Amino acid sequence: MKNILTRRSFFHRAATGSAALTWLSSRQIPTVFAADDAKPALLGGEPVHSGGWSEWPIWRESWEPAIIKVLRSGKWYRGAGGHVAEFEKSYAKLIDAKRCLATASGTTSLMVSLHVMDVDAGDEVIVSPYTFIATYNAILINKALPVFADTDPETLTMDSASIESRINERTRAIVPVHIYGMPCDMDPINTIARKHRLAVIEDACQAWLAEYKGRKCGTLGDLGCFSFQNSKHIPSGEGGAVTGNSDDLLDRCQSFHNVGNGFGNFKGERPFFSRGSNYRMQQFQAVMLLQQFDKLILETARRRENADYLTSNLKEIPGIQPARLPENSRAVWHLYPFRYDASQFSGLSRDKFIRALSAEGIPSSGGYHEQYFDGLLDEAIQSRGFKRLFSAERLKNYRESFHELKGNRQVCASTVAIPQNLLLAERRDLDHIIEAIRKIQKHSAQLAKATA
Ligand SMILES: Cc1ncc(COP(=O)(O)O)c(C=O)c1O
Repeated sequence: MKNILTRRSFFHRAATGSAALTWLSSRQIPTVFAADDAKPALLGGEPVHSGGWSEWPIWRESWEPAIIKVLRSGKWYRGAGGHVAEFEKSYAKLIDAKRCLATASGTTSLMVSLHVMDVDAGDEVIVSPYTFIATYNAILINKALPVFADTDPETLTMDSASIESRINERTRAIVPVHIYGMPCDMDPINTIARKHRLAVIEDACQAWLAEYKGRKCGTLGDLGCFSFQNSKHIPSGEGGAVTGNSDDLLDRCQSFHNVGNGFGNFKGERPFFSRGSNYRMQQFQAVMLLQQFDKLILETARRRENADYLTSNLKEIPGIQPARLPENSRAVWHLYPFRYDASQFSGLSRDKFIRALSAEGIPSSGGYHEQYFDGLLDEAIQSRGFKRLFSAERLKNYRESFHELKGNRQVCASTVAIPQNLLLAERRDLDHIIEAIRKIQKHSAQLAKATA
C-alpha cells in the first residue's frame, strides 16, 4: 500500500473498514498525514480532530441498584456494613497483594503508611519531586522533610543514582512515585533501601494494575498507596487504599486509620492501640469501586494498546521522545507523556506547541512544574515546628538543594502529556494525534513567528 493517503481516501477507508480500525484488532501503521498541507488551526485552519473525546468519569446504569441498596439500608459508614471489607479483599486479589486497607483518599493512604513506617517529626523522607502535591504534603504533615531525589529525564520517575547522596542519619523512608502509571525502576531503589534500612512506600496513586518484572505496583515496597479520586482510572469521587504483604503492617494501618482501635494482632492489647485518626472509607465509595473491576481491566488493556501504538509512531517524529519504561514493566498511562524538543520545531515554545495542539482538537498539558519553587516548602520550613525540628543550616542547605534537580527541571520544562481518556478512543482518532503533531511540525516556523 502506498504510504501517503489523501485525507478523503483516509476517511473513505476508515468508514468502509471501521472493523479493521477498532483498537483490539488493528495494528496497522498510520499513514494518514495528508492534512500536513493544511493551515494550522491556531492560525485559522481546520482542526485535525473535531469529534471530541470520551467523557470522564464514565458510569453505568447497572451500578444504580447496588448504590441505592446502600442508601436504603442506612448502613453508610464502614463499621455498619460489609462493602468496604469486600472491596479490600477484591482489590488485594486484583493486584496480588496479601492485604489491602481502604482509606478515605490517596492522601490519607500516604499519611497512614508514613505513620506506620515510623516516619516521625524531624525525620527526612526521600521522594520523587515529579508528582502531585499530595505526595509532598503527606510528608510535611508528618513534620518530616521531603528530600527530593532527581528525576530521570528518560523515564520521568525517580533517578535511583541520585538517592544515596541524599541519605543522612535522619532519613527513614523512600517514596518512589509511579507517575502517570509508569512503574519506577524498583530493584535499585529497594537495594538502596535495604542497604540503609529504609522503608519503601510506593506512591501508586496513578498506577492501578501497572507492573514491574511480573509484579504489580503497590506490592513492590513495604506498603503501596492508591487513589480512587474522581479523575482516576477506578474512581469513587474520593477514596484510597494501602496495600502490602505484611499482616503486622496492615494491622497497624487498620488501627491508625480507625482512631487507633487495635486490630488483628494488636486487638485488645489496650483500649486504643496507637495514635490514630479517622481515615475510613464509606460504604458508598466501596460499592462504587466494586462495580468497576471489569471496566478497569478492559480499559487498561485498551489504554496500553493505544499507548503502544502512539509510541511506535511518535518516536519517529524528530523532537518527540516518548517516555522509556524500565525493562520488563507495563504502564497503565494515567497520562501519556512525551518530551518535546523545541529545536526540532523551529524553536516553537512548548507552551505554544500545546496551544497549537489544542487548536487542532487534541487536549494536552505541560505536566508538573517545579513545585518546590512555589512557596509551599518555604512556608513549611519557615514554620515554628520545622525551625524547632531542623537546624538553620540544614534548612538552608535543603532550600539550596532544589537547584540541583537538573533532571527534574528538564522534565518539567519539556514534557507534554495527553490525558488518559484520549487513549480510550478509536484508532482513527489516535491517528489524529499523530497527524496533528506532524502538521504542527511542518508549520512550526510559521507558528513560532505568529503572535496568535
Ligand atoms: C501521585 C499522586 N499521589 C497522591 C495523590 C493523592 O490522592 P487523593 O487525591 O486521592 O488524595 C494523587 C491524586 O491525585 C496522586 O496523583
